Amino acid sequence: MRGEYDGMVAIVTGAAQGIGRVTAERLVAAGALVVVADIGEAGAQVVEEFGECAEFVQTDVSNAAQVERLIAATVKRFGRLDVVCNVAGVSGGLRRFLDDDLRDFERVIAVDLLGVLLTTQAAARHMAAHGGGAIVNVASGAGVTPGVGMLPYRVAKAGVAHATRCLAVELGAHRIRVNAVAPANIATDINAAFDKATVTSLQPLPHQGVAADVADALVYLAGPRAAHITGVVLSVDGGMACGTPPSLVPNRGGSTTAAAPNDTHPQQQEESTR
Ligand SMILES: NC(=O)c1ccc[n+]([C@@H]2O[C@H](COP(=O)([O-])OP(=O)(O)OC[C@H]3O[C@@H](n4cnc5c(N)ncnc54)[C@H](O)[C@@H]3O)[C@@H](O)[C@H]2O)c1
Repeated sequence: MRGEYDGMVAIVTGAAQGIGRVTAERLVAAGALVVVADIGEAGAQVVEEFGECAEFVQTDVSNAAQVERLIAATVKRFGRLDVVCNVAGVSGGLRRFLDDDLRDFERVIAVDLLGVLLTTQAAARHMAAHGGGAIVNVASGAGVTPGVGMLPYRVAKAGVAHATRCLAVELGAHRIRVNAVAPANIATDINAAFDKATVTSLQPLPHQGVAADVADALVYLAGPRAAHITGVVLSVDGGMACGTPPSLVPNRGGSTTAAAPNDTHPQQQEESTR
C-alpha cells in the first residue's frame, strides 16, 4: 500500500470526519496528495494533521459553483486530479413513509445524489481532458436492499448506485473508472441514533463495521490495483445485503436460531487482548 498513490492527487468529499476522514488518511499514507472537501470547518484541523500533502477546500457538494471551485483549487494547488471519493452525505429523518412529510427530501437528494453527480461531472470533465482517472462513490446498503423508513435517503443512495453503473458505461471510453461502495452499520455519527445490537443482528457477521473497513474498500477501488474494475457496487456491510434468513436446519446445539451477535469489531477484540 505505501507508495501505491505516489504522484497521484485525490479529492475526498465529506472528509472532515467519519469514513471520509479515514479514507483521506489512508490515501495520504499511500502517498497521495489529498484535498479534503467538506461543508464543515473541521476539515481545516484534519489537514493540519496531514501537513503539506493535504489542503482543505470548504465545499457544499450540492452547490455547483462551489464544486467547480473545488476542482479548480485542486488543480491549482497540486497540478492534477486522478481520484475523487464522493463520501459526503446526510441521512435525513428516521420516519416511516406514512408519517413522513418529506421535508428532508430536497436536501437529502441535493447532497447525496446531486452532490455526487455535480462532483463527478466537474472532475470527469477535467479527467477526460487529461488521460483519465477514478471516481468512487459512497452508496449505501439502504439503497441496495428495500427497507422501511428513510425513503429519501434510500432513493438517493439507490440513485448513486445506478448512476455509478451508468457512468462507468459512459465514461469508460475516457479511461475514467466509476465504482461505488455500499456500506451498512458502520460506527460513525450518521447512524448514532440506531440501536447497534439490533442492526448488527440483521447481518451475518456478528460485529459492527468501522470507518476503516469502508475506507480500505474505497482506496482499493480508486487505486491502480483496481485498474480493470469499473461499474461495481461493492457491499461493505458484514453481509447484510445477503440477509440472515432463519435456517430450518437445526444447528449443532439442536436449535434453529442464529448465533448471538457480538458487535465488537475484530480489530477492537485484538486491541482488548493486548
Ligand atoms: N456509517 C454508516 O453506517 C453508513 C452506511 C451507509 C452509507 N454511509 C454513507 O457514508 C458516507 C459517510 O458518512 P459517515 O458514516 O462517515 O458519516 P459522518 O456524518 O461522520 O460524515 C459525513 C460527512 O459529510 C459531510 N457533509 C455533509 N453534508 C455535506 C455537504 N453538503 N457538502 C460536503 N460535505 C458534507 C459532513 O460534514 C461529514 O463530515 C455518507 O455518504 C453516508 O451516507 C454510511
